[in-house]
Amino acid sequence: MKHRNHQVDNYKNHKMMPTLNVSVNGPAVARAFAEHIVKKLAEKKEGPLFWALSGGSTPKLLFKLLAEEYREKIDWSRLHFFWGDERCVPHDDPESNFGEVKSLLFDHVPVVWDQVHAVDTTKSPEEAARAYGELMMRLLPSNSDGLPILDINMLGMGGDGHTASIFPANMDDLLTDSRICAVATHPDSGQKRVTMTGPVLNASDEVAFLVTGNGKTERTAQVLNKEHGAEKFPVMHIRPTSGKLIWFLDEAAAAEVGY
Ligand code: 6PG
Repeated sequence: MKHRNHQVDNYKNHKMMPTLNVSVNGPAVARAFAEHIVKKLAEKKEGPLFWALSGGSTPKLLFKLLAEEYREKIDWSRLHFFWGDERCVPHDDPESNFGEVKSLLFDHVPVVWDQVHAVDTTKSPEEAARAYGELMMRLLPSNSDGLPILDINMLGMGGDGHTASIFPANMDDLLTDSRICAVATHPDSGQKRVTMTGPVLNASDEVAFLVTGNGKTERTAQVLNKEHGAEKFPVMHIRPTSGKLIWFLDEAAAAEVGY
């Protein structure tokens, strides 16, 4: 199959429609996003890039690719890492989002460890959320609403339309929460998590969703086609107030997107 990776700009005259970047498969999505990071660093010419990571399967492909092929292509000293959400488990727990990227990427490239800002999961969930919000306020520029601004907030979408750890059941609170970070509970496992709240995600200079696989086809179409009822999915409410919104998709996830 010929590899196509095309940038589909705003369609259907919906001024808020996101930009779509569609690649043939998961690995190609990872590569497209890696190149996007290279481009953003070049656009900023110098200075830091504040990048929030997420958990999930597609980011694993990205982390492995960056470790294998981008050690020399990226000035790692310019990158500052944050997490859009983190499970309240020890960093060496298989469930840890920090632990995952440490083993897949950070242990293989010259990151500046003082610029890797993990959630302190040795604290209680509430204390960890409060402390992480304070850390973000201390380290990041803030907007006119006093919210911290990330240069790029990389997010995934769960099958239920959740993003970060904003799940459908508790989305109304977390989408309007005045705090920077809050505690969320996974609806199935009951696992406690620290998550950036909706207003903070939307304060980002850019939000980039990475969504792949035929398991996401229907949900992606419901959201991007703005189908009736899609507002019950948290991802529908994540669009930067003044920043950019890009969906990096593979052809499977994008198969029923109507533009
Ligand atoms: C997490 C993630 C979560 C993830 C989605 C999509 O901590 O689990 O932040 O929001 O991005 O569940 O995950 P998949 O890409 O694996 O479906």
